[in-house]
Amino acid sequence: AKVHYHDFVIQATPVKRLCSTHNTITVNGQFPGPTLEVNNGDTLVVKVVNRAQYNVTIHWHGVRQMRTAWADGPEFITQCPIRPGGSYTYRFTIQGQEGTLWWHAHSSWLRATVYGALVIHPKEGISYPFPKPAREIPILLGEWWDANPIDVIRQATRTGAAPNVSDAYTINGQPGDLYKCSNQDTTIVHVDSGETVLLRVINAALNQQLFFSVANHKFTVVGADASYVKTFTTSVLMLGPGQTTDVLITGNQPPARYYMAARAYASAQGAPFDNTTTTAILEYKAAPCPAKGVKINPTFPSLPAFNDTATATAFTSSFRSARKVEVPTEIDENLFFTVGLGLNNCPAGASSSSCQGPNGTRFTASMNNVSFVLPSNFSLLQAHHQGIPGVFSTDFPAVPPVKFDYTGNVSRSLWQPISATKLYKLKYGARVQVVLQGTNIQTAENHPIHLHGYDFYILAEGFGNFNPQTDTAKFNLVDPPLRNTASVPVKGWSVIRFIADNPGVWLMHCHLDVHITWGLAMAFIVENGVTELEALEEPPVDLPVC
Ligand code: C2O
Repeated sequence: AKVHYHDFVIQATPVKRLCSTHNTITVNGQFPGPTLEVNNGDTLVVKVVNRAQYNVTIHWHGVRQMRTAWADGPEFITQCPIRPGGSYTYRFTIQGQEGTLWWHAHSSWLRATVYGALVIHPKEGISYPFPKPAREIPILLGEWWDANPIDVIRQATRTGAAPNVSDAYTINGQPGDLYKCSNQDTTIVHVDSGETVLLRVINAALNQQLFFSVANHKFTVVGADASYVKTFTTSVLMLGPGQTTDVLITGNQPPARYYMAARAYASAQGAPFDNTTTTAILEYKAAPCPAKGVKINPTFPSLPAFNDTATATAFTSSFRSARKVEVPTEIDENLFFTVGLGLNNCPAGASSSSCQGPNGTRFTASMNNVSFVLPSNFSLLQAHHQGIPGVFSTDFPAVPPVKFDYTGNVSRSLWQPISATKLYKLKYGARVQVVLQGTNIQTAENHPIHLHGYDFYILAEGFGNFNPQTDTAKFNLVDPPLRNTASVPVKGWSVIRFIADNPGVWLMHCHLDVHITWGLAMAFIVENGVTELEALEEPPVDLPVC
């Protein structure tokens, strides 16, 4: 196994999109940031130097970080932020994961522009469980604001209103030629007739689930979230923010240019969203050159309508593990967490300009009625490791405080979250099941729920209220998919299982950034086991302090 050294310099860089230039926070001046390539079993050592004016941390999304929670990255969870002028070196080893993950800033809304792909090849000499592709191409779907994203969220936090939706989606940082001033820079992906390429598709958007298609071509899905899946073919993908999907695509069409396109899957009812479409071009090497002055007109794919939940669900429920699964058949912890939005009263005396939710409220979000509050003086991991009292409590409720029809527009008086830093403690090795139940308070939409430090099996998903008497019959214990982010269906539920074999403090949250801002998060403490190899390592000496 190798050790890969990288320097990430966080800096403001002029980036021009949609006709205007913004001083954009980037890594090494690149947008999107560098693609890191490793083999399973390799170690990454990434020195992050902060030359920007904002606090920053980097999260290695989906990396298990066995015993190295200090390198996980979420601000105030596993570390204090890297202050302007500071630096921190992340060190971790890839253990048993193969496929596509990614990295992103985990502080305020910096990840809007601070993100990149993390490609994990099999160990040297080991081949893929599918025919070797001629080439491999990361496809990073993103979101662009014609503004400073930090200002967008700061403004929303101040007013209690929903933040402005993005002005464009992007493919590898480019909006593509349906947007103003973007034609010249549209991303082009090359393919040769007869050749098969591997697209490593990542949804790095902040707040939007996305459909993705390529005109006249089908995808063969081979992996997701750095786990192999039983292959299946589809003409459309749907990814929630945080999710990755690896697909093969073969150049079996007449040599020409074909659009690849992504646009919103917006299950939310009544909430505004960016309804634009981003494009890149799949170009056959033998495609005829357009005559001078003639505009190229690639074929456009058909994409599902923004509210096509049937297509989204058919896709997300097609995943099956390709490898032997180790899903626990018995469970020690049977947890039931509601996930959803809500409204809270505005602070007393707030004027309408400082509190702009509907009917004199402000937006909030919670799990089991607790809206998660980040600490500001310590990281939770540091507080846990050093036994610092008063930073958090461990009484996160394992079941919701009230029971009712979660999908039936609950009145606000029944459901007003408290704001707190509550964690749930798990014994080392505990076999954990979590029912994630979407709630319908104010709006209902999918929630891409991401767990740090773990992959989990998704046993079943469904609509309506989870019924423990009948829905357990739907559990797949044979070949459930192993993921790090589950799309909890709109007005529905997902059931996940994992074994708590990685000590530390691990955030679980909705990967729509606006929802994490509003508190749709909680964290697990996983205690050390008995042996040294079951214990969290000591913190690195350069760990930032608050
Ligand atoms: Cu991809 Cu907590 O993040």
